[in-house]
Amino acid sequence: MYVDELPEIPRLYGYSWDSNGVPVPGNLTIGMYEKKWKFHRDFPPTTVFAYGTSAEAATVPGPIIEALRNTRTLVTWLNFLPQKHILPFDTTIPTAIPKNGGVPTVVHLHGAVDPADSDGSAFAWYTSNFGETGPKWTQATYTYPNVQHSGNLWYHDHALGLTRVNLLAGLVGIYRITDPVFDHTLNLPSGPEFDRHLMVFDRSFYMDGSLYMNATGDNPSIHPQWQPEYFGDAIIVNGKAWPYLEVQRRKYRFRIINSSNARFFNFTLSNGMPFTIIGSDASYLPSPVTTPSFLLAPSEIADVIVDFSLASVKEIILNNNAAYPFPGGDAVDNLNGQVMKFVVTPGNPSPPDNSVVPNILKNYVPTTMTSSVTRYIVLYEYDSATGNPTHLFINGKSLTDPVTETPKSGSTEIWHVINLTPDNHPLHLHLAYYQALKVQQLVDLDNFTNCMTQKNDAVACNVSAHATGPVDVVPANERTWKNVVKIKPGYQTTVIVKFNLVENDAPYPFDATKSPGYVYHCHILDHEDNEMIRPLQPVP
Ligand code: C2O
Ligand code: CU
Repeated sequence: MYVDELPEIPRLYGYSWDSNGVPVPGNLTIGMYEKKWKFHRDFPPTTVFAYGTSAEAATVPGPIIEALRNTRTLVTWLNFLPQKHILPFDTTIPTAIPKNGGVPTVVHLHGAVDPADSDGSAFAWYTSNFGETGPKWTQATYTYPNVQHSGNLWYHDHALGLTRVNLLAGLVGIYRITDPVFDHTLNLPSGPEFDRHLMVFDRSFYMDGSLYMNATGDNPSIHPQWQPEYFGDAIIVNGKAWPYLEVQRRKYRFRIINSSNARFFNFTLSNGMPFTIIGSDASYLPSPVTTPSFLLAPSEIADVIVDFSLASVKEIILNNNAAYPFPGGDAVDNLNGQVMKFVVTPGNPSPPDNSVVPNILKNYVPTTMTSSVTRYIVLYEYDSATGNPTHLFINGKSLTDPVTETPKSGSTEIWHVINLTPDNHPLHLHLAYYQALKVQQLVDLDNFTNCMTQKNDAVACNVSAHATGPVDVVPANERTWKNVVKIKPGYQTTVIVKFNLVENDAPYPFDATKSPGYVYHCHILDHEDNEMIRPLQPVP
């Protein structure tokens, strides 16, 4: 541990400036390549799939795409992957299977409010050189309008039934939208040295350096390979296992993305120093929240300030103590309980630290509990006779069952999300921003679950008589417009959802009602693939 320095991730600019200082839309071309990657100094090179402008330049995670608010970025995503996947997968779950081989891929920009034909539909996959394309493939170049407020996004693969293996192979990357007017006014730590991205995920390896993924399923007679959650023992940050970073005695901004398949992280610092959280997913918080720990589910993002001038020790470990699966699983050990190390350089920072953490960050449209449309969204797990999960559904339906979530484009809805499984599910909505308003325990859960598995109708099962248990507080560091909300087991989480609206609730400048539509799903990738995912189709 702590022998590799935290790598700098290459940056690509999704815009430029003309001679009058006016921003100009950018065109990027990013490929997906098979290559060797060193996850650790003393470890044999690992074959990965990586994003980059060339095979040589490709990295895990892929390059940071810098976008500017209100300036379009166009990306042509090219697949240069080989005929055969480097990981085992499972064709008994709905999977993109090309007739002539190749690795199907399609890129989704997570947190983006974008046109449906640039959203990366699971059915819009394609193989190397567009040799074969999925049923909803339309175009090679995706348009990201960047009209949403500034914040942290990430891009990753989304191919049907292969999302968990394609991300595991390395197809993850970072995207940020900067507001050229607003962001500077906050005077937060800035510049590549003091404003850093940390993409964290867990992996296991074979002794020869190759990535480990199970080749056999928990229920091999039903699913030969699929298992309900992938967990790795090594914690990787920006492509290195347990790296270290030398820091000055000053404030740093860390934009931390959990791109694990299934692992939750509950972060703490070994010297007890607090984090000051300024943002969650692609939004700022109204004001900073200082806390000794915070929980980050798969695909969630925390925007965090750490002030190393408060440190009285030289070395600080970023630790993790989240059980896996979360919350009822195994306790962490000495390996997966540690993330990275900060080595504090003595003396005064140079240049001096003039950054601040302002008391007021950003206020977006406020929340209300009222909307003309209310839905019940119920998360189910189905088990085999031996008690192992066989698949997961939302409202008892699979991805290809007819669409039921048809919000009006530009509208606000209230969803009551009910979790009947033993695990926490990070629910992600494409196109939308949303946030938890109320988290309430379900009472008499067994009877409610029995009724739901028979009738699949929350109202008929008298949900209001069951959603009467103790109310949990929504953590202060999650009270903003999010892309992912953690849904607690045995609880009803009531959320407010805004579909394709900008900050002041004005409509987005594109038509969100077109084909191929959007999806919402659990972001535990093994759940998403088998099939805790449903279509989301806005209507005029
Ligand atoms: Cu980050 Cu549909 O995914
Ligand atoms: Cu899940």
